[in-house]
Amino acid sequence: MRKGRVFLIAVALLAPAIASAGTIANTKHDLSATSTAAIKSGSQTDTCVFCHVSHNSAPGVARPLWSHTLTNQNLTWAPTTTVRGTVLPTSITSAALTGSRACMSCHDGTVALGDLLNGTGGTVTGPNVTAGKLSGGVNLINPAAMQSNHPIGVAKPAAATGFTSFKTVPSSSPVNYDSAGYVQCGSCHNPHDNTFAPFLKIDPASGAICTSCHDI
Ligand code: HEC
Ligand code: HEC
Ligand code: HEC
Ligand code: HEC
Repeated sequence: MRKGRVFLIAVALLAPAIASAGTIANTKHDLSATSTAAIKSGSQTDTCVFCHVSHNSAPGVARPLWSHTLTNQNLTWAPTTTVRGTVLPTSITSAALTGSRACMSCHDGTVALGDLLNGTGGTVTGPNVTAGKLSGGVNLINPAAMQSNHPIGVAKPAAATGFTSFKTVPSSSPVNYDSAGYVQCGSCHNPHDNTFAPFLKIDPASGAICTSCHDI
């Protein structure tokens, strides 16, 4: 009897965690006014509208129904190439950076979190937010110091000339290049799902994300 009750309590405690797995609600990407996230809007109650809208979305972004005002901030890498000599892309409007531009539109700190193409996100406030824009903390990706980040907008090298080789990634792999063959933020992250924080596509244990592409 006693054991049974303990079991029921354990199930009850686990239930909310199971129910919320895989949803964006109350993650750091839920900027809606009712979110439990520290950074959120004072008025907008829709979660999706900070990134998507059903009508009048941004044309030609290659992100589905994109609603967030896009950044025009170019990237600076120093050195300007990878260790293999691959030139890193700097123009944020280049095709190689299409997917990552969507993410940088909040993460580079130049566009307000509530600045939308159709509608308004209201005034977004919270820690590390100044004038509605991300202004500090580890989640601000400094576009002037991109060498601190894994390369983006680069493709699988044609030949193995470095210390490591590159795998041919099957299309079934969640961690992958984009449809044009480039590494993007979305190669490793799923902005909707925080099951593997911080918004990772798979469990990073044993370097599984990295060895999806790198053959080491
Ligand atoms: C913080 C930004 C952000 C928020 C908020 C967000 N999304 Fe997304 N969503 C994205 C990005 C970026 C992509 C494109 C992913 C890619 O191509 O790698 C995407 C893609 C999608 C897709 C197409 C891909 C697929 O799996 O079919 C759907 C559908 C979608 N989102 C629905 C939603 C809904 C519904 C909500 C609200 C509950 C939401 N999103 C909130 C950023 C967001
Ligand atoms: C609408 C604005 C917005 C867009 C677009 C956006 N993010 Fe975020 N993201 C945020 C905010 C706000 C935070 C929380 C920042 C903080 O707490 O300092 C965050 C946090 C994160 C985190 C850290 C989560 C954690 O647990 O600490 C990751 C990873 C992340 N975002 C990845 C992405 C990726 C990848 C994309 C594009 C697919 C993206 N974001 C697009 C607003 C955005
Ligand atoms: C090659 C895989 C990969 C790519 C590409 C990638 N990330 Fe990440 N990101 C990770 C991993 C793994 C973590 C977990 C912490 C770590 O290992 O640094 C992370 C952590 C983060 C964090 C949390 C802060 C931190 O430093 O831990 C943010 C925010 C973030 N990524 C945003 C982005 C954005 C925006 C892009 C595109 C500009 C991007 N990521 C591209 C793999 C990647
Ligand atoms: C989607 C495929 C993909 C994933 C996932 C991936 N990488 Fe990479 N990585 C690349 C490509 C492509 C390059 C650039 C190759 C070149 O120089 O042309 C690269 C470059 C690098 C470099 C050299 C950077 C430089 O500036 O020269 C390191 C180090 C690295 N990756 C480590 C990692 C780690 C650690 C992870 C896991 C967090 C990871 N990679 C995940 C594809 C990937």
